[in-house]
Amino acid sequence: MVLKVENLTKEYGKNMSLTKALDNVSFSVDEGDFVAIVGSSGSGKSTLLHLIGGVDTPTSGNIIVRDKNIFQMKDKELSKYRRKDIGLIYQFYNLIPILNVEENIEVPVLLDKGKVNETFKQELIEILKLKDYLNYLPNELSGGTQQRVAIARALINSPALVLADEPTGNLDSNNTKEIVSLLKYLNEKYKQTILMVTHDLNIANSAKRIITISDGKIVSDVRKDNSVQTTTCQNLNSEENKSKNTVNEESYENTQ
Ligand SMILES: Nc1ncnc2c1ncn2[C@@H]1O[C@H](COP(=O)(O)OP(=O)(O)OP(=O)(O)O)[C@@H](O)[C@H]1O
Ligand SMILES: [Mg+2]
Repeated sequence: MVLKVENLTKEYGKNMSLTKALDNVSFSVDEGDFVAIVGSSGSGKSTLLHLIGGVDTPTSGNIIVRDKNIFQMKDKELSKYRRKDIGLIYQFYNLIPILNVEENIEVPVLLDKGKVNETFKQELIEILKLKDYLNYLPNELSGGTQQRVAIARALINSPALVLADEPTGNLDSNNTKEIVSLLKYLNEKYKQTILMVTHDLNIANSAKRIITISDGKIVSDVRKDNSVQTTTCQNLNSEENKSKNTVNEESYENTQ
């Protein structure tokens, strides 16, 4: 097991303006899993990722990553956890504008004064089709290419967890398909554990497991069987797959 979330609660505000962004959430994730987290706007998805990423603290509860309770870490250990154990992919890429593509990919390693694994870096560059762009600055690239750079940056340290918050939220449908299939490929090739927040059920269906949250609570947690896993998005609407795959449009809409 790589991640254990135990009775996680996050409240914002007080008294009348109290919001329970997360309400006693518990689940665990095995090494090499690809988990989609779905739910309507305001359901608590980003709050959950921020807590797992160690950039926010909970009102109560624990998060254990590779046997370490991240909320018991001292500041220094927690910053190291954020740099080495977590790879982040955001909706708006968040590349460093003054660094070129190659430098952006290396940032997490250099921040940690580590040595770049050149073989792995070249593999990522190849898989993510970035060879022709290594000297470009982020603002010279399309959104899809910027997101491919962000994926390389997220994976370069082979972190315990890659956390992606709406990674295709700003992309057209072709780029969306490409980014999702790349994440799926990298998950399979490197057994890289990925947690991906998305609004889009077709995207969620590319993952191996779908956790749905509503009002800060987990309302369903479904592992897809292999037959559904290999099905294309188009076929996921068929009646046959709806019955196999308990997260269907209907149950998803109930969370909206
Ligand atoms: N810093 C904050 N201060 C107060 N309330 C907050 C804060 N951050 C989040 N919330 C509230 O917590 C709840 C969960 O927010 P969160 O951003 O996790 O939702 P989300 O599922 O990521 O939504 P979206 O799909 O719109 O990104 C919402 O009601 C939100 O308004
Ligand atoms: Mg969000």
